[in-house]
Amino acid sequence: MFSSTRALCVLIFLYFVALKCKGEGYKPLPNCTYVECPQYSVIHSEKEFEIRSYKDAVWVSSPNISESSYLGGFGGAKFLEAYFGGKNVEHVKIEKTLPAFLDVFPAPIYVQNTTYIVNYYVPKKYQNNVPTPLSPQVKPVKLPKHKYTAVRRFSGLDGDGTIAEQLDTLKKSLQGTPYQRATAVNQFTVAIYYNLYESDSVAEILLSFD
Ligand SMILES: *[C@@H]1O[C@H](CO)[C@@H](O)[C@H](O)[C@H]1NC(C)=O
Ligand SMILES: *[C@@H]1O[C@H](CO)[C@@H](O)[C@H](O)[C@H]1NC(C)=O
Ligand SMILES: *[C@@H]1O[C@H](CO)[C@@H](O)[C@H](O)[C@H]1NC(C)=O
Repeated sequence: MFSSTRALCVLIFLYFVALKCKGEGYKPLPNCTYVECPQYSVIHSEKEFEIRSYKDAVWVSSPNISESSYLGGFGGAKFLEAYFGGKNVEHVKIEKTLPAFLDVFPAPIYVQNTTYIVNYYVPKKYQNNVPTPLSPQVKPVKLPKHKYTAVRRFSGLDGDGTIAEQLDTLKKSLQGTPYQRATAVNQFTVAIYYNLYESDSVAEILLSFD
């Protein structure tokens, strides 16, 4: 006996399967409904990755941090936290935005020579009138530097090993696609949306390209 409720469930299920196959891209992150996130459009999406085009916007960036792990590199966030907290000429407290972009410039061989830069998106309200940082360590920058961004979302950011693994998986999934050129660059970005110390935190690996 096939009840109507059951039939409805099947229909709803099929609808979502169809949505997924159509390639709607990753779901918007729940936090972005109450915290401002940078805008982008999805150019192409697949199960393993999506291609975005981020809207030009002003972000603020930390100085270069030379560290042996991403947690150390993420320490650069303290400069940006201070700036958002009011350490700017105008003394405004800036509302928190998500995600933090952690740019990673790996040295060819030695992990300990990795350079990190942390970037925070400046809210829309201040885009045309960016508060001036009091610290010379904080610099407003225009992002993105490249037209497209290949993105792989994952959960459980719990170490440098995870980042290396996810980066490798993203690069492999881009092989043989029209976006393969994204894998040629050594530099990449980790987008951190949730608490860094939560093991189920959602993060994304980003490769920018033209
Ligand atoms: C910061 O690091 C990047 C990547 O290694 C490098 O291109 C840039 O010149 C560095 N900037 C400064 C101010 O050292
Ligand atoms: C890497 O860092 C170490 C110590 O910080 C330094 O002695 C070494 O010269 C660096 N290597 C490269 C290739 O930059
Ligand atoms: C984002 O959402 C997660 C899960 O609900 C929560 O643990 C985290 O604190 C949120 N982050 C921010 C910055 O609101």
